[in-house]
Amino acid sequence: MTVELTINGEVREFAVDPRKPLIDVLRDDCRLTGAKSVCREGFCGACTVHIDGEPVPSCLRPVGLLEGREIVTIEGLAPFETPNPVQEAFLDHDVVQCGMCFPGMVVTLTHLLDANPTPTRDDVKAALVGNICRCTGYERIIDAVMSVGEVRKVPA
Ligand code: FES
Ligand code: FES
Repeated sequence: MTVELTINGEVREFAVDPRKPLIDVLRDDCRLTGAKSVCREGFCGACTVHIDGEPVPSCLRPVGLLEGREIVTIEGLAPFETPNPVQEAFLDHDVVQCGMCFPGMVVTLTHLLDANPTPTRDDVKAALVGNICRCTGYERIIDAVMSVGEVRKVPA
């Protein structure tokens, strides 16, 4: 089957088994290895990407069901040299340890802050319900996101 997707702004066509999960297309066929393949069952969130603007676990999406959809991976959120505000806040708060959860968290939290620029701590916790971190503990992650929200509350 041939499937056409827009990935990080580029239209791509793939001749693939339609059952192949999107995470494998991204990592194997596109060499976009930011999204991580961990549980492969939709529990950990490490594989999260935006599909038509919504954060979704890409391990659960067979590519055959995604014809014409717009995919944004962590590589597409911001240029490597200029991290987006969530990435900068993670670095400033020493959030990243092993880093396996980091790409999925950033994708999820970028969507949260786009939709709600000044979230509460409970909003952040709710957004992260599908993203598991085994290393850092969630308080620092939430502190990092809140710091972005606090900056945005200050009038220019
Ligand atoms: S690898 Fe997709 S949710 Fe864990
Ligand atoms: S930093 Fe290791 S799982 Fe989150």
